[in-house]
Amino acid sequence: MDSGLDYHTAKALLEWQVELGATEAILDAPVDRFALDPAPAKPAPAAAAPAVAPPAPVAEIDPVEEARKLAAAAPDLEALRTALSGFTHCDLRRGARNLVFADGVAGARVMIIGEAPGRDEDREGRPFVGRAGQLLDRMLAAIGLSRAPEQPSDGVYITNVLPWRPPQNRDPTPQEIAMMVPFMRRHVELAAPDIVVLMGNISCQAGLGQRGITRLRGHWTQAYGAPALPMFHPAYLLRKPHAKREAWADLLSLQARLRDGGQDG
Ligand code: URA
Repeated sequence: MDSGLDYHTAKALLEWQVELGATEAILDAPVDRFALDPAPAKPAPAAAAPAVAPPAPVAEIDPVEEARKLAAAAPDLEALRTALSGFTHCDLRRGARNLVFADGVAGARVMIIGEAPGRDEDREGRPFVGRAGQLLDRMLAAIGLSRAPEQPSDGVYITNVLPWRPPQNRDPTPQEIAMMVPFMRRHVELAAPDIVVLMGNISCQAGLGQRGITRLRGHWTQAYGAPALPMFHPAYLLRKPHAKREAWADLLSLQARLRDGGQDG
């Protein structure tokens, strides 16, 4: 069949569909569903219009307020996961295979907050399992921390601002981030870490309301009511290996803070 598309456009469209998870053909021939749509109903003549009152205006839902209510009502991490999975106002969930909630040791002294799941995380339903995640594991191991530690005291807890993968790994929009901040605040409250690590710009945008990781990294601050350390994202370090020097300095700063008790001051 001649689709009228050139080879490269057709291939890009096919790859896009595979990326979205449409990996199986269900029928032998394509179906044009727009052609199947019933014709739009003709408006009834004015004389036949029923004499009913116009419908009351539907109250606009504020997704951030809705997120606040749902998150605040969650008494524990499992309930928070359930609340997130029932949150319907963020369109990202529709394109994602899995909700990616968290990994590692809940209750650990360090909570790592990344950006959003990528393809591997979306498949597995766990944060930081792809190449960036493997680098993160090596970085943490260098200061004696792990998401699967032998001693619970060496554990870390890992999550992301966004629990759903954005299409094509695009940056989340400010609205998408704003809807997730109440969940993240509650997540930190319930996990109660001594320290949060904000990995990369999106995490700083959500936790500090600021971007500019090159300027922010390595400077201790407060986020979600806890001492917070912004750091370069491991995906950035994969692209810019020369920045590993600063990342190492930040890891040592994190280690020193943990030795000091992880509190302010
Ligand atoms: N990058 C992130 O920020 N989080 C992940 O889970 C994977 C990659």
